Parts: sequence; structure tokens; C-alpha cells
Amino acid sequence: MQDYRDSINAVVQCPFCACALQEKDGEFLCSGCQKRYPLTVVIADFVELQQRDEIAKKALVTWGENLHHVSSDEAVHSGHFSQFEDAFGSGFFFAEGSRVLEIGCGAGEDAVKLAKSRSDLEILAMDIGENVRTLAERFRAVVNLHFIRGDARLLPLKAALFDYVVSFGVFHHTDDPEKCVKEVFRVLKTGGTAFVYLYKNHEDDLFKRSGIIAETLLMQLIRYMPHRMAQFFCHLLAWPCLLFFSWPAWIMKRIPRLSKLGNAMPLHWGTSPHSIYGDLEDRLLAPVNHRYSYKKFLQLFRDAGFTEIKVVTGSGGHYARAAKLG
Ligand SMILES: C[S@@+](CC[C@H](N)C(=O)[O-])C[C@H]1O[C@@H](n2cnc3c(N)ncnc32)[C@H](O)[C@@H]1O
Ligand SMILES: [Zn+2]
Repeated sequence: MQDYRDSINAVVQCPFCACALQEKDGEFLCSGCQKRYPLTVVIADFVELQQRDEIAKKALVTWGENLHHVSSDEAVHSGHFSQFEDAFGSGFFFAEGSRVLEIGCGAGEDAVKLAKSRSDLEILAMDIGENVRTLAERFRAVVNLHFIRGDARLLPLKAALFDYVVSFGVFHHTDDPEKCVKEVFRVLKTGGTAFVYLYKNHEDDLFKRSGIIAETLLMQLIRYMPHRMAQFFCHLLAWPCLLFFSWPAWIMKRIPRLSKLGNAMPLHWGTSPHSIYGDLEDRLLAPVNHRYSYKKFLQLFRDAGFTEIKVVTGSGGHYARAAKLG
């Protein structure tokens, strides 16, 4: 079995100056700018010792250590890849023996599920949050999965390494989604494919657009609350959301004439406060929520250099399959 350090050594570079890194006394040392990055037997950390802008600081407060109350091994489930499957059908796949990067892996559910079901793949999962340390320790026995702590805007990775890059609901929470997509392009091999999900702006749906206005107003209000109070506020808010959206949607979905409307309701999948709390927290406590029209979303990928792009728009957002061709 290849050791974590050997595998990581082969793929990392300094995120700030792109120079080579040397492993020394439990750290990576940049041969160019001399920055240091902590390294243990399970995790390389390209975030801990660096300066953070306000958005990255807020991302760490919101998702950092307790991201989605990092679930136990048994509780691991995945809903996100199945959404890509719905969007692209047979166009969503990972070829045998490929190298896959997940950016913004959160609680690690998708990466773990993929690694366990596809032992032929070599998977690297990355997030800015300190929760990746816990994940790396917990899933140490999954030999085809490694974790790394890094920033999507400055990937600590060499160019042209991956056959696939996946990212689910991450770049819209950074101050520079354009840079994130350019980084995806850089680390993909020629012939590689990116699968990315981002929020849409509901340009075609007046009802949901008014929801975005409510979201923006609530975010302004919450911004001034201490984090714990803001979390408490989201817990309270879960009840009226259930009452006015999720439960009516549950009923509508069972009436054939209303089922389409039920599926279009915000938080229509909710059954209990707990089931929608994570989503409320992601939306309302996020540092920023960039939202995209179809055209603007497509342009993100064109500007990054992708030439073969397919966009599928679902009820919550846009899904892209973008290939890096020669
Ligand atoms: C809404 S959660 C999505 C998590 C996971 N992809 C999922 O679908 O459950 C957003 C994730 O993006 C991560 N994130 C935010 N800004 C980031 C950045 N600049 N670089 C890497 N990850 C970032 C957060 O820590 C968080 O885990
Ligand atoms: Zn450097």
C-alpha cells in the first residue's frame, strides 16, 4: 500500500508560487516563497498557517470543524452524484482506473461512497475546513481515498493531474468562482472532464426569485448576529419553512395534478426540522451566495478554457459537464 505522504508528494505544489515542495520535519517547505505547510500521516494542510480574507474566515466559521455534524461511517450516504446521474444519464461516469479530485468535499459523503464502490479509482478529496482532518483519520482504511486541506481558489496541486474534477455547491460560496473554475481547468488532464454544480438565479421563476430576495434580506440580518445565535435562528426558522413549504409540498407531490408544483416548492424534500436545517445553514450562514443565469454559468466554463460544455438546469441549480480538449 502506498503511504499517504508518497501519494501526496507526487501531486502537490505551492499554491502561492507554484514551486516544488520539500518534505521536512512534518512539514512541506516551499522551495520558492519559503511558506510552510503542516503535513501528518493522513493530511497535508495548505490553509492552517495562511492569512485569510473575510469570506474564507466566514466559510471556516460556518462549515469548519463541525461541518454538517460530520456523520459516522455508517451514516454515510450520497445524494449528490445521483443528481449528476439524473442530469447527464450515461454522460456521467468515471472511466476505469481514473484519478478523481473532489473540491469542497464537506462531510466527505460523496467521496467516501465513490471510493468504496469503485476501488479502481484514485480519489483526492479537498476542503478548506478543518473537518477534513477528522475525515482523513476516520477513513484512513479506505486506501484509494486521500484528503487534503486547501482552497479552491488556489489549488495546492500540479497542473494536468486529474481525469475528473467534481465539485458540488462550493464555488458560489467563494469570492472568486471564476478563479475556481480556472483552477479546475488547470489541474485537469487534456481530455479530462469537470462535473460542477452551482446555484441558479431562478431567472424563469418569479416565485423563487422572491425567495432569493427573502434569502438576501435574512442574510443581511443574520450577518450581525454572533454565530451561535445565527445557528439558533436557523433552527427556529426550520419550523415555519416546514409548515409553509415542505409539508404542503409533501401533500402536493401525492396529488397527480399538483405534483409538479410540489416538486418546485422550496425545501420540498423536508420532513423534519433536522432534514432541512443543513440546507438553511448552507444558504443563510454562507459568506456569500453567487447565483447564476444559464448564460452566465456557461460563460464561467468558456472563460476558463473549456470547449465542450453541457449544462443541465435542475430545480435548485445548474449542473455542468465540461471537457478540457487539446
Ligand atoms: C455547501 S457546502 C457543500 C459540501 C459538499 N460538497 C456537499 O455537497 O455536501 C460548501 C463546502 O465548500 C467548502 N468551501 C467553502 N469555500 C471553500 C474554498 N475557498 N475552498 C475549498 N472549499 C471551500 C466549505 O468548507 C463547505 O464544505
Ligand atoms: Zn511558494
